[in-house]
This record gives sequence, C-alpha cells and structure tokens, in this order.
Amino acid sequence: MATRIGILGLGKMGEALIKGLQASKHSKDFAFQATTRSIESAAEATKRLAVECHTDNQKLAAGSKVLVLCVKPHQAQTVLSELASKLTADHLIISVCASVTTAQISEWSGGRAAVVRAMPNTPCLIGEGMTVFCAGQGVKAEHMRLTENIFNTVGRAIALEEPLMDGVTGLSGCGPAYIYLIIEALSEAGVKVGLPRKTATLLAAQTMAGAARMVLERGEHPAALKDEVTTPAGCTIDGLMALEEGKLRVTLIKAVLAAAKRSKSLGKK
Ligand SMILES: NC(=O)c1ccc[n+]([C@@H]2O[C@H](COP(=O)([O-])OP(=O)(O)OC[C@H]3O[C@@H](n4cnc5c(N)ncnc54)[C@H](OP(=O)(O)O)[C@@H]3O)[C@@H](O)[C@H]2O)c1
Repeated sequence: MATRIGILGLGKMGEALIKGLQASKHSKDFAFQATTRSIESAAEATKRLAVECHTDNQKLAAGSKVLVLCVKPHQAQTVLSELASKLTADHLIISVCASVTTAQISEWSGGRAAVVRAMPNTPCLIGEGMTVFCAGQGVKAEHMRLTENIFNTVGRAIALEEPLMDGVTGLSGCGPAYIYLIIEALSEAGVKVGLPRKTATLLAAQTMAGAARMVLERGEHPAALKDEVTTPAGCTIDGLMALEEGKLRVTLIKAVLAAAKRSKSLGKK
C-alpha cells in the first residue's frame, strides 16, 4: 500500500520533494496531500502538481500519518501548535526546516508524535538531492528506514547526529546556490573567451556534474583527481594558480561556516 505523505507547506522545498517522488520509479509507493497558507496558492498548486492541496492542516494530519513540515522556520511553531491536539503516537513528523531542533518540534507539536529532522536540498526535484536526517523524540528504526527510503528515492540520504545539522545546512542545504554561482562565473569566463553564452553554460555545468560524478563514483580524494588533470608546465596549473591567488578555497570554507553560523543563530531565536 502506498505511504500517504502530508506536505505541510507546499512551497519550493515541498514541491521539489513531491515532483522528485512523482518522477521516480517508486512513484506508486507514495500518495500525497498538501497544504499552503493561502487558498490561492493551494488552488494553483492543485492544478499544477495534480496533488490535493488545501489550507486545512488538521485535515492533512487526519489523512496522513507521515507529515513533512516544509514551512519557513519562523512559521513552524504556529503550524505545529495549531496541530498539536490532532497528533498521535502514530504520526511521524519529518521537519525539513533549517535551524529548528527536534526538541522544538516535539515541544510545539504536543510531544506525542515521533520526530525526525531532515535537511534536503532542491535537486531532490530531479532525483539528485542530498539529504541528511537525524532522529528526535519517539523515533523507532522503522521511522528512520521510512525517512531514508523517501529521501533516497530523490537522491542520496544519510543519517547523522543532530549537532551536525547546522553544518549540514551550511554545506549541502545551501550548497546548490554556491554551485550555481560558480557555474554562472565559469559561464561568464566562457563568454569572455568567445563562446556563445548557452554553450559556455553547458560546458560549465556538465564539467561540474562530470567532476562531481568522478568524486562520487571513483571514491578517490578530490586532490588526487585534480592532480590527474594537472600536467607539469601545462595549462591547468596556471588556472589553479589564479584560483589560489583569488583565495577560492578559503572563500568556499568561509561561505559554509557563515551559513552554518546563521543556521545555529536562527535556531536560538
Ligand atoms: N528552499 C531550499 O533550498 C531549502 C532547502 C532545505 C530546506 N529548506 C527548508 O524548507 C522550508 C521551506 O522552504 P521553502 O524555500 O520551500 O519556502 P517557501 O517556498 O516560502 O514555502 C513555504 C510554504 O509554507 C506555506 N505555509 C506558510 N504558512 C503555512 C500554514 N500556516 N499552513 C500551511 N502552509 C503554510 C506557504 O504557503 P503560501 O504560499 O500560501 O504562503 C508556502 O507554500 C524552510 O523551513 C527551509 O528551511 C529549504
């Protein structure tokens, strides 16, 4: 029987998840219902995604034992408090809200439902997401298996301890934005050396995807793969020198640290 999943807050992340699951070869294993805040966005989402979408969170909880909380972090407390009386020990709440801890989710939702915190990213939309999840209150092995199954269907999923979740947010949660920026910059470089923009973007994006697959599939250290491309006195070493001069590595490290710090501070508010 299909797992009924209720998406609380069908925005960008909720949509990426639904579309990714719908497009997967396991699409028949899942059935969806969703909510938004406004009637207009619910009607629009129903039409666009062929999913029942409305504004009644309590009806959603009555119809789905698995609830994925996809509202903005500052909206989580209100949504869960309104739902608390309807939640039972049979419910599993999977929160994808950045910065919100499992303890907060349990407190706001009345403490009966099992709670998992997850940090996916938007490439879930095309089955290439990266999700990290951790157990909260009341979670059993079957809840962790179900969470892993959902997010593995739309990419890769691993379980880690909760104290690492802010760092995860700074790396893989926010990471697609960093990578888009790098692709955009490489594409500009292509235009500068005379390539048509569309071609430059293709070259940049496929190079990024190919290099990422090499790391994932060969399992070698990225530095060893970089060395393979770098011929003595060749062209690549000159490019690498320019990147070192521009402090690319430390800049990327600082980007992840800044986003992780922000995630941690938002959680304390
Ligand atoms: N976007 C990402 O790349 C990403 C990655 C990882 C995790 N996340 C997490 O995912 C969550 C959602 O982010 P997002 O980018 O998808 O935000 P978003 O596009 O703004 O979506 C938020 C959704 O929540 C709905 N909503 C607000 N209040 C509600 C209520 N009381 N009842 C039901 N629905 C309600 C909104 O409905 P209306 O449209 O009607 O206002 C909207 O559909 C955040 O907590 C974020 O930290 C996002």
